Amino acid sequence: MAGVPREQWTSKRGFVLAAIGSAVGLGNMWRFSYLAAENGGAAFVFLYLLATLVVGLPVLLAELVLGRGSQKSPIQALAHYGGQRWKPLGLLFVVTGLLILSYYAVIAGWAVRYGLAAITSGFDPDAAAHFAEVASGADAFAFHVVFMALTIFVVVGGVSRGIERTSMVLMPLLFALVVGLALYAATLSGASAGYAYYLAPDFSKLLSLNVLKDATGQAFFSLSLGMGALLTFASYLGRDVNLPRAAGIIAGADIAIAFIAGLVVFPLIFALDLSADVGASTVGALFITLPKAFAEMGGVGRGIGILFFAALIVGALTSAISLLEVVVSSAIDNFGWSRRRAGILLGIAITALGAPSAWNTDILGAVDQIANNILLLGGGLALSIFVGWVMAGPIEEVSAGTSGASWFGSWRNLLRYAVPLFLSFVLIYDAIPSTFETILALF
Ligand code: PFF
Repeated sequence: MAGVPREQWTSKRGFVLAAIGSAVGLGNMWRFSYLAAENGGAAFVFLYLLATLVVGLPVLLAELVLGRGSQKSPIQALAHYGGQRWKPLGLLFVVTGLLILSYYAVIAGWAVRYGLAAITSGFDPDAAAHFAEVASGADAFAFHVVFMALTIFVVVGGVSRGIERTSMVLMPLLFALVVGLALYAATLSGASAGYAYYLAPDFSKLLSLNVLKDATGQAFFSLSLGMGALLTFASYLGRDVNLPRAAGIIAGADIAIAFIAGLVVFPLIFALDLSADVGASTVGALFITLPKAFAEMGGVGRGIGILFFAALIVGALTSAISLLEVVVSSAIDNFGWSRRRAGILLGIAITALGAPSAWNTDILGAVDQIANNILLLGGGLALSIFVGWVMAGPIEEVSAGTSGASWFGSWRNLLRYAVPLFLSFVLIYDAIPSTFETILALF
């Protein structure tokens, strides 16, 4: 709205924690461990690290540069540097945000339900049957609504008073919880078998295109890349912030938490000999094996389970906030809506959009694949080309707030050549065909 100054973070630290909050979420705990289990453990972890550093990091920096440079949400940011014809790409980012949040909040709803149940009645030993009962249907929808309400509440609070404040409190808490859980897991008798599975690579899987696609998709999802979330967060920043440093810290924290989450999950699974259950990996893997482990561990398990689900909920909330913020800030910038109106109306729309995922976990899995394999990877490809070729002065913008560096030119070359080539390859040879297979399998 004309005349109203753009909201700003109150501190650099607040921005960095909010961005880490966006990155660290269900992706690090739920998605990372189920993909690692499905794809040969350490082979996947290795490729994921590689994809994060070589492809993820340059795109992350590109998003920060675009957001901070334009001081606008995605649609307007693209129009600012590329003209009207780039607006549809911004719109696609907003749609991606709507779509991801619609099922992300369903999974977060499962976590809320398990967390509450752990406090009141403990974990059901027949974990698979329990999951089948609660993961879909009216129950799942009800918890999805609860989680969405929380997300809407924070976003309506605003950038500094809602998002920043929440992240300043919750991110240190999340870190402490995950590290504490990993230390506990190290004391379990099966820990070393878990570590071995997690960290000793099955080299035959390294050459698989499918693992490469999953690792790249995971790098994008986990870093919140390819749909303008970090772009939007960076649009509330001043030119005194060192963006390359911020990008390094955000990626480093995201990798660290994903890695430590693996140090929690795999020892637990192996301590209770549940590795066969994980082999048959589905979206429910974490919500079946871990509660089963917690149930078998008795009283201690219940306590550990409560802490585990608390961490999951905290991570999910700070990520969901950033997903909703992309949509809300776009409505504010494009329609002149108030934050309150945008948050509530669009939040309700997203809640409704999540109904199919809440009713059917196969639909949820398919939407997750479409969002990741096609929309985020495709969005990353487009962003890379945009900042590499279309945007004027990316090097000046990335330099602002730094003392300059000779590698900024190489960064732009990565965005121009290597990243688009690599992403096109992954999209054409695996991501697009395998996603179509998944969709066809639904019918
Ligand atoms: N990075 C989040 C996670 O790992 O759970 C998910 C996510 C958030 C993806 C925000 C995309 C996004 F824009």
